Amino acid sequence: MVEIKKAAVIGAGTMGLGIAGQLANAGVDVLLLDIPADGENRNAHGERAIERLLDENQPGLTHAENLARITIGNIEDDLDKLADVDWITEAIVERLELKKALYKKIDAVRKSGSIVSSNTSTIPISMLVADMPVAFRAEFAITHFFNPVRFMRLLEIVRGEDTKPEVIECLEAFNEARMGKGIVICNDTPGFLGNRVGVFAIQTALHAAFRLGLKPEEADAIFGRPMGIPKTGVFGLYDLIGIDLMSDVAKSLVAILPPNDPFHDVSAEIPLMKRMIDEGHLGNKGNLGGFYRSSDDSNDRQTLDFESFAYRNFDESKPEVAEAAELAADFTVLLENDDVYGRYAWEIISNTLCYAASLVPEVNESLVSVDDAMKLGYNWLQGPMEMIDAIGVDAFIARLESEGRDVPPFVRAAQGKSFYRVKGSSLQYLLADGSYAALERAPGVTRFSERRRTLQPLLQNAAASYYELPDQIGLVEFHSKANTLDGESMALLSDAVEHAGGNFDGLIIHNDAAHFSCGVNLSGVLGFIQDANWEGLDQFLSHFQATVRAMHDAAIPVVAAPSGLSLGGGFEVVLHADRVVFHANSVTGLVESLVGVVPGGGGVKEMLYRWSLREGDVTKGAWQAFMNIGYGKTARSPLEAEPLAMFREGSDSYVMNRDRLLDTAIGAVKKLADDYVPARRIPLAMPGRDVWQEMIDWLKKVQTKGHLTPHDVTTGSQIAMIVTGGDVDAGTMMNEDDICALERKAFLRLAKTPETRARIEHMLNHGSPLRN
Ligand code: NAI
Repeated sequence: MVEIKKAAVIGAGTMGLGIAGQLANAGVDVLLLDIPADGENRNAHGERAIERLLDENQPGLTHAENLARITIGNIEDDLDKLADVDWITEAIVERLELKKALYKKIDAVRKSGSIVSSNTSTIPISMLVADMPVAFRAEFAITHFFNPVRFMRLLEIVRGEDTKPEVIECLEAFNEARMGKGIVICNDTPGFLGNRVGVFAIQTALHAAFRLGLKPEEADAIFGRPMGIPKTGVFGLYDLIGIDLMSDVAKSLVAILPPNDPFHDVSAEIPLMKRMIDEGHLGNKGNLGGFYRSSDDSNDRQTLDFESFAYRNFDESKPEVAEAAELAADFTVLLENDDVYGRYAWEIISNTLCYAASLVPEVNESLVSVDDAMKLGYNWLQGPMEMIDAIGVDAFIARLESEGRDVPPFVRAAQGKSFYRVKGSSLQYLLADGSYAALERAPGVTRFSERRRTLQPLLQNAAASYYELPDQIGLVEFHSKANTLDGESMALLSDAVEHAGGNFDGLIIHNDAAHFSCGVNLSGVLGFIQDANWEGLDQFLSHFQATVRAMHDAAIPVVAAPSGLSLGGGFEVVLHADRVVFHANSVTGLVESLVGVVPGGGGVKEMLYRWSLREGDVTKGAWQAFMNIGYGKTARSPLEAEPLAMFREGSDSYVMNRDRLLDTAIGAVKKLADDYVPARRIPLAMPGRDVWQEMIDWLKKVQTKGHLTPHDVTTGSQIAMIVTGGDVDAGTMMNEDDICALERKAFLRLAKTPETRARIEHMLNHGSPLRN
């Protein structure tokens, strides 16, 4: 099997630059070629791609230094460089003739044994390689990435009639482990799996909304979070992708799907949208807005009124049933509702789930692939078959029959059963012939959400659960909304640490949700403030500190394995683990200052220790901790986290594929468990009052330059108080207890100010920081 050491991407547009960026993130040298640009700079297209890769809002690189692995060029001057490349992937415009002409050029220079693939969304492989020699066809496949490549987890791989099995095996193994993708192997059918189901769902939601007379914000309030679908919904998604582009995607599917495909029922052009495109209302990318826009003067959200074709204020009120479903984290609540929202939900869900089920086994033999395609490619919380299981197969069939509708054969095959079942310790899924097969993932890949189904919790409450894994290892899973932490999360973690310490060889803190933890539950903190319950707040912080310190001091190793956001209190938990296995896109940071408080769960203490150790000097360490926490610095990858002392080179590690976090964490626990001795913290000689004053002076100086607000200064002074020891002589020794006590003192002092209260309220109401 060829080993992919060097790669090339042809086409430096949206997808090509994303693929090149992720290859660089994976540590692979990559050549990125486009057509030569007009004018003197023939590599201008490549240069533009590099600029886009570094985009602050959505960086395609895990670290800017990865750029050094990308060489840009053009297909006229640099074509011969393809000769020593192991994998060449094409991501040029979706035009068959251009792709075919390019393959001829590639084949003239590529080395034998190298793999060539296309990122096409719609063109069948048989057409792409129709004119190519057998040797080329044997080494050709479709590798269909999703945008943005760094963040979207799905990769669909399509095998052609002549593709050698080892080519598929190589692409699968490389892209799973190195590029971090969840792989779905698809047959060469139109739209493969993700777009086939995803675009069908979107079009169904769009047409139903117009027919039922729903406003965009009403439709998106249903077809969104309450259904376990990203909150952009349908109209927001159209705006995000571009109304013209999304319409083209739908049109291209119409052109390639067989005439009897139900997609045709939801593909007709909607006159209002044609008008929008004609008049330049293209969505977020244009100046005129799309279904939504921000008003020019106040920046408030506005919605296009379908009657008047003018913008009006966004209607903030949400249908009650949407709130109820979201609160219960259960989309089936929507289906019980007999008003227009319930009808809307049922129409989308029933049609989409039937459509998805009808693709098994012709389009894909495995229902797991269908579910994976939607979860990894469209960020749905549950796949279509999992959703039917949640409704109940028989209840689903009964409702379809009561409406006189056809039941797809694969749903019929599940009658009296479910699509997934647990047998002993194995999770199984239904095959088209009605039998079950064990759900087995590649070695090293385990999704906890799947593993959990075969386990019974040892302890559980509303916010978290504790499980036993094989080999005497415990696991704590947070599962509150956005995994915010409250007294219950801490109570469970505390009990689990105690239990594991006496019974197991190690403990893992991990979950499979979008975010490890977005921090302490701010509503809870606000509750203490509103009630002026300072003692309660102090106790909450005390308990938090005691819990994470018990984790750190436990007689067994504790390994955290976070992905998504680990912010504030969530990151304080991570900071107290002996080892951390991060996902490559993990976002970390102590952002408490943005809401006018300090990290009060041992976070300041931990950063002070880490920085003092790094700098070899407590005063220098105190300055670093003060600056980083004061600015609420975040890292968007472990590589960015390292220089911020949020990642420990040599002991922490990261993996490209989220689905490898758990197994890697288990390996880390086992490695530590044998001769584990808990690390102890020695007391620190604190910098004292003079350095505290210097920090305050610094804050005031920056304030006079207009870079800090008055409450930034107040908050910063409290962070300074903790890291220096406050009003004490230089050299005063303080241990962890002392520093934790300072954290609580600072937290309470700030919590009593109206400015902090205003910051917290603003964050809760608007999701953004208040600069007061
Ligand atoms: P794009 O329009 O952003 O970029 C295409 C790039 O190819 C441009 O930079 C263009 O200059 C270059 N190009 C055109 N002809 C070329 C040639 N003969 N040789 C070298 N470079 C050439 O397109 P995008 O969106 O990146 O799409 C690329 C491919 O990926 C298409 O096949 C598309 O269907 C597919 N795709 C697109 C997705 C998306 O969300 N945009 C998602 C998945 C697949």
